[in-house]
Amino acid sequence: MTNKMWGGRFASGPAGIMEEINASIDFDKRLSAQDIAGSRAHCEMLAGAGIIAREDARAILKGLDTIASEIESGSFEFSRALEDIHMNIEARLAALIGPVAGKLHTARSRNDQVATDFKLYIRDALLQLDDLLCGLQQALAEKALAHASTVMPGFTHLQSAQPVTFGHHCLAYVEMFARDRSRFADARKRANECPLGAAALAGTSFPIDREQTAKALGFDAPAANSLDAVSDRDFVLETLSGASITAVHLSRLAEEIVIWSSPGFGLVKLSDRFTTGSSIMPQKRNPDAAELVRAKTGAVFGAFTQLLVVMKGLPLAYSKDMQEDKVPAFTALDTLSLMLAAMSGMVCDLEPQADAMAEAAGEGYSTATDLADWLVRSLDMPFRDAHRVTGRIVALAEASGMALEQVPLGDMQDIEPGITADIFSVLGVENSVQSRTSFGGTAPSNVRKMAQEWIKRLESDPTSG
Ligand code: ARG
Repeated sequence: MTNKMWGGRFASGPAGIMEEINASIDFDKRLSAQDIAGSRAHCEMLAGAGIIAREDARAILKGLDTIASEIESGSFEFSRALEDIHMNIEARLAALIGPVAGKLHTARSRNDQVATDFKLYIRDALLQLDDLLCGLQQALAEKALAHASTVMPGFTHLQSAQPVTFGHHCLAYVEMFARDRSRFADARKRANECPLGAAALAGTSFPIDREQTAKALGFDAPAANSLDAVSDRDFVLETLSGASITAVHLSRLAEEIVIWSSPGFGLVKLSDRFTTGSSIMPQKRNPDAAELVRAKTGAVFGAFTQLLVVMKGLPLAYSKDMQEDKVPAFTALDTLSLMLAAMSGMVCDLEPQADAMAEAAGEGYSTATDLADWLVRSLDMPFRDAHRVTGRIVALAEASGMALEQVPLGDMQDIEPGITADIFSVLGVENSVQSRTSFGGTAPSNVRKMAQEWIKRLESDPTSG
């Protein structure tokens, strides 16, 4: 049997394998709500412009309502032979209301239809991501406030560098996720033009009103060029590119959680809710959720790469290649949503181990910069000289297995006679973090203020980013 919708010039139906490669219904049925919304807007416009009769439009709209409830209740039968969501719905409409259903496809093609459906879907997905990101920022900002003065080691090269506070570390991620949200908001702004009415590629000879359909579907305006309208998938690429950057951030945080929670570090305790045990080693507490967040990043990057490759050599306008945009997008969006939800849960439950953190913060001569800064401030020494003097004191401490604050004053004075006992006031980790009051620095007073500001901002305007 030839295809009911386009089989007019065909003598035989498709090979079985053709149906297999061609059908998209298994995945594009996720666009059913958007497809019906697009059809409603198109139908109302056709009637308004006098292209179809009012009573035909009424029958079509009523049929679409029935289909919407059939899909919602799960009684709708999707058919692979009907290829995709557009033809499944149209065929059902014909079964429900007869040949008048065929009028719905006037001045429209599946090419502008699918572009419109998918854009509507992506616009919603961007809002959902924003919501999840906001929740994660809230969890991090609350942790930051609670631990504004909890000292932990700050690392560069994963080597002890300078003490910081755990709150400061949490707020670093709040900033990253804020940039992610602004990238998604920006992508959404550019996804504001409606493809519907571009028809197959060249527009239509019917007197359609594209402003009307654009407005009805919540877009700002119709897309200005019909060729571009049907072949543009930038809105998906931008979303996946933003999603990839968010995944990078999540993966970095996940990696830190894995490191911090390992017994070698022991800086945080993960809750039972986000860890698993081992079937052979009873003592184990594995950070599986963090590891999986780290690993799932691969699926998000993969989806972005996949779509870039699908799109890169396509001539204008529509090619069937573009049907392969949906699986990677759905995969990436589902995966990222799960990663965000799991990360929010982990962050909420995370218990920093203040004593272990403070101890580790003092290791590795982490206050050496404070010592050098003291020399600069108190002895008016150029920083480069202070660095050299400090290096000699650190070497001495290391050789005798002492912490910096344990080096006797006399030994320090042998290296630099100007040093006084006042130097000991800057060698503790608490003093170190408290002194870092420069804007954006780790001083607990800064962190508390920033955390409070974030909490207020996220509460009062959750969509502000
Ligand atoms: N299922 C198709 C897709 O997702 C719809 C558009 C088909 N257009 C066509 N000319 N065959 O891209």
